[in-house]
Amino acid sequence: MLAIIGGRGLASLPSLEVTHRQLIRTPYGEPSCPLTYGRIGTQGVVFMARHGYGHSFAPHEINYRANLWALHSQGVRCIIAVGAVGGIRADMVPGSLVLPHDIIDYSWGRKHTFFEGPDHPVVHADFTRPYCPQMRARLLASAAQSGIALMDGGVYACTQGPRLESSAEIRRLEGDGCDMVGQTGMPEAALARELDIPYAHLCLVVNWAAGKGESAEQVAFEPAALGQGVASVGAVIETLCRM
Ligand code: HPA
Repeated sequence: MLAIIGGRGLASLPSLEVTHRQLIRTPYGEPSCPLTYGRIGTQGVVFMARHGYGHSFAPHEINYRANLWALHSQGVRCIIAVGAVGGIRADMVPGSLVLPHDIIDYSWGRKHTFFEGPDHPVVHADFTRPYCPQMRARLLASAAQSGIALMDGGVYACTQGPRLESSAEIRRLEGDGCDMVGQTGMPEAALARELDIPYAHLCLVVNWAAGKGESAEQVAFEPAALGQGVASVGAVIETLCRM
């Protein structure tokens, strides 16, 4: 079964033929929302809204461990995560869809591992390639087949939030090699790796990062970029399920 974790603007998947919903309890507490089960074509799909329905959890309040554990407990074999980002690199224009290949984690204080406490072994999950190459290849192929531009590669910076960054912070991220910035990519990707679930991240650029683009005085979200991007994300996922 394929899981889709929807971010801001993607609280449901129009192409999903829903069969049922279920709230899963986990040893780590409750996930953000009940899981929605269904199919796209012959592909079994489970959908989760990362922020809950009605966007109720801020990025630092999300129970990432419960979310990933819930998906794992349902036999999920791969995850496509969808998230909004700010564009840092000059070609990450609002409205673009990007498939990052790497990540730097600047978040802090989040429960970020399953391997802690006296009952767990010490495990150092390999994270050389945080995103699954096969999943990335499938997404690139489905975007090409759907005629949707999907930028291949880029480094995702995960900041703590919920506030946006200062322009100096964005310059620092840029100096570190980051191309886009969001607040929910971690520890989600690392927890998926700890559970051995292949994971890829479809990122929707919804604004220029602080100090970038033309409106350098203030970050301006572009609702049109979000609306158009959500439609493209839906099309890429639907095509992937039918390929
Ligand atoms: N910064 C951090 N997270 C974001 C942004 C941003 O500019 N845009 C969307 N998510």
